[in-house]
Amino acid sequence: MLKRFDMLYGIDLGTSNTVIYQQGKGIVLREPSVVAIRQDTGEIVAVGTEAQAMIGRTPGNLDIIYPLMDGVIANFDVTSAMLQHFVKKVQGRAPWFRSSQVYISVPCGITNVQKRAVEETVIHKGAKKAVAVEEPLAAALGAGLPVDEPIGSLVLDIGGGTSQVAVLSLGGIVVSHTVRRAGMSIDKDIIDYVKRTYNMAIGERTAEEIKIRIGSVLDPDGEKKGMDIRGRDLIDGLPRSLHLTSSEISSLMDDFLMTILEAIRVTLEKCPPELAGDVMDRGILLCGGGALLHGLDERIQKETGVPVHIADQPMDCTALGAGRMLDYQNGRLGKSSRVALREIAAGKAVEETVRSEA
Ligand SMILES: Nc1ncnc2c1ncn2[C@@H]1O[C@H](COP(=O)(O)OP(=O)(O)OP(=O)(O)O)[C@@H](O)[C@H]1O
Ligand SMILES: [Mg+2]
Repeated sequence: MLKRFDMLYGIDLGTSNTVIYQQGKGIVLREPSVVAIRQDTGEIVAVGTEAQAMIGRTPGNLDIIYPLMDGVIANFDVTSAMLQHFVKKVQGRAPWFRSSQVYISVPCGITNVQKRAVEETVIHKGAKKAVAVEEPLAAALGAGLPVDEPIGSLVLDIGGGTSQVAVLSLGGIVVSHTVRRAGMSIDKDIIDYVKRTYNMAIGERTAEEIKIRIGSVLDPDGEKKGMDIRGRDLIDGLPRSLHLTSSEISSLMDDFLMTILEAIRVTLEKCPPELAGDVMDRGILLCGGGALLHGLDERIQKETGVPVHIADQPMDCTALGAGRMLDYQNGRLGKSSRVALREIAAGKAVEETVRSEA
């Protein structure tokens, strides 16, 4: 039970970004899940945004570490130090996590041992209680889907390390499918393409910028975009720049789209027919940073024939939903707040549910 002075946090510990929600305050932190470490002493030099600015620019004695891989903790000590740094930033002088209950999202399908390990990382830092929440459930709750009703909802969360498809009903995950292709793998494909085609090396941050600025899964001959990029020539070793267009990378984007469509197909195939019918009517909720890839919602809708809605805050909804988990478990997400939550998620089906409750 949450005592009067207890604090409640919802944490989305993602492969690319960490987002923290604090009850009563809203989203209090959004930072990349990155840490810069001195090789010889193991000392942490920078965390989050500060460490991200160092990517590709570190001297030989500094390592840049993503402590999470494919959504799960790959390096416990560094993850723990990173979390400590973030919570300290949020809490100021207060000792971190004292008197707090923490709901933390984990990818669906991980083992109970892995879940327990995530909870212990938080408990170890002094939290009174830590609960691991499956990411699609948290995302759906944060986006205002009626997860507790006997109606199927399909959530597609495209993050940095993993893309997860899950069908939820009656407060649980009925079927799910996870693929290890998401935002970061597109960046890697772009790095490989530029290397192969132009003999030029570019950094991770440039690749991500290319994806965000000119990446699109829509018709490559439609709206053509281009950008100048800089890198290092692999033959003479000198800095060089070139102009890259959206149509050049469209086949990489298409390849990624095919993986996502296949994941949706596999999930629906495993799904009980009644719930698959609900999904046809109500549509797909798209969330995670990958949801912002240009044209993704439109293409998925066209290819599957199922309506697609992007969550209102696609990169925050998991942390938001994790933070609301306690109220949800205690049945305290009252009618009015549930209606308000649902209003966040766009779409006809959502409006209909709100109306039928009124
Ligand atoms: N406008 C955009 N267009 C395309 N991709 C984007 C955009 N904005 C962010 N991204 C990508 O979204 C990804 C990060 O999304 P998110 O923060 O949801 O991941 P995460 O939760 O940290 O990862 P995971 O859920 O896999 O553990 C990054 O790969 C980033 O490049
Ligand atoms: Mg995520």
